[in-house]
Amino acid sequence: MAYMEWRAGLDVGHAKIDSEHRSLVEALNRLHAAMKQGKGKDEIEKTLLFLKDYTVEHFKGEERLMMVHRYPGTDKHCAIHADLVKEVATLITNYQSGKTPLTSAVFDFLEDWLVKHIQGEDKALGEFLRGKGAVA
Ligand SMILES: [Fe+2]
Ligand SMILES: [Fe+2]
Repeated sequence: MAYMEWRAGLDVGHAKIDSEHRSLVEALNRLHAAMKQGKGKDEIEKTLLFLKDYTVEHFKGEERLMMVHRYPGTDKHCAIHADLVKEVATLITNYQSGKTPLTSAVFDFLEDWLVKHIQGEDKALGEFLRGKGAVA
């Protein structure tokens, strides 16, 4: 069973953002499966790096939409993105050095962050974009 199931409440009403969020959930599930299956460090590292790179790209996409449509909450939303990227980078460094294993606390943190951010900041952005007629 997948670690995290997609739920309808996570849709923000913007096609590109929603499809990227689904991919993020899938990437998190792949990472969890790799850990559960006892995959080697290389494989886990690859999955972790993919998750980070995909997240960075996704954030850039949202930030572009904010700028293009002059979203009033841009600064705050971008700062929150930057914080998570920093946290994930630290997590990867610590994993690589053997300091922090990938425990369920790490997954809970990532899932929690994702759900809260999507349902909070991203949903607000989705509503704003829909108001501007930008839905894809
Ligand atoms: Fe997002
Ligand atoms: Fe976001």
